[in-house]
Amino acid sequence: RARILSGMQPSADSLHLGNYLGALLNWVRMQEEYDAFFFIPDLHAITVPQDPEILARRTRVTAAQYIAGGVDVEKSTLFVQSHVPEHTQLAWVFNCLTGFGEASRMTQFKDKSQKQGTDSASVGLFTYPILQAADILLYNPQFVPVGEDQRQHVELSRDLAQRFNSRFSETFVVPQPAIQKDTAKIYDLQNPTAKMSKSAQSPAGLINLLDDAKTIAKRIKSAVTDDGTEIRFDRENKPGVSNLLTIHSVITGHTVDELEEQYQGKMYGHLKVDLAEIVVDRLGPIKSRAEELLADPAELDRLLAVGAQKARDIAAETVEQVYRKVGFLPAL
Ligand code: TYM
Repeated sequence: RARILSGMQPSADSLHLGNYLGALLNWVRMQEEYDAFFFIPDLHAITVPQDPEILARRTRVTAAQYIAGGVDVEKSTLFVQSHVPEHTQLAWVFNCLTGFGEASRMTQFKDKSQKQGTDSASVGLFTYPILQAADILLYNPQFVPVGEDQRQHVELSRDLAQRFNSRFSETFVVPQPAIQKDTAKIYDLQNPTAKMSKSAQSPAGLINLLDDAKTIAKRIKSAVTDDGTEIRFDRENKPGVSNLLTIHSVITGHTVDELEEQYQGKMYGHLKVDLAEIVVDRLGPIKSRAEELLADPAELDRLLAVGAQKARDIAAETVEQVYRKVGFLPAL
């Protein structure tokens, strides 16, 4: 079976609807067909300052949400990045294979460091994509299911795989990003030209997987729509309505064409009322399941330990090969 790998940062109190529709849902589908690795990149989270207790809690919450959202620990390998030290070991080797200029061109660093001020941005934030390349290449996946915003990072991992293979010898599979076109991006409900993000200005544009039904319904009903009345998908002129149609379509499985037909002659309000119900029905059981899992942290930690062991078995082999190829003396 071909392999996939992906992860989401534990950097908020909950995953949001963009993470769920743009990534998690896709993972859950793919785990049926692929040998799947899903992890929680806590090493990446500390590239910006984190409160230790909050980080630990968020790591568990993220794991619980993966499982509640449909990741099946019997079928897939679920683990926490810091439990597998090989990630940092391979990252160091890749740090030494990446050009300074090459790393400087990564747009996420440019955006985030601009926000923080270049002087206070950490070196970890700068080398973030290199650690991500290590995450990926350790397991030699064929595909990396992510949202559009991660495309450049997967590109870097492809470049590093090819570079290592040609400089030393054939070692890494060159992975491909698996980005579902129309669902790749969910936008902020209040500002529908910006992606839905945990770092949004106001929470009003954000739906979290742990929000209660009332909050979810309220946020959808007060979503910004566009001038005019027609319910039509038009990203350029009707970004608000288009975003609502996308969310509807991804959850219900109806195509956008079908939805346009269904809502012909109806008002924005109709779409919002329906969509609020659809989203609440979908997220409600995920929230309850996540809360159940979080009520038994010892069991959750046990599941993560099993996953870490499975991951390490593979990761250790990769690091051993890499260390040998770069010329490190074997430790007896
Ligand atoms: P992160 O934590 O920012 O996002 C997790 C996943 O959610 C997707 N996503 C979205 N999709 C659609 N609409 C949105 N509004 C939206 N917001 C986020 C992201 O594209 C992503 O797939 N660097 C990664 C984490 C990471 C990783 C990896 C991923 C570390 N190592 C190795 C894959 C493979 C990140 O910060 O994702």
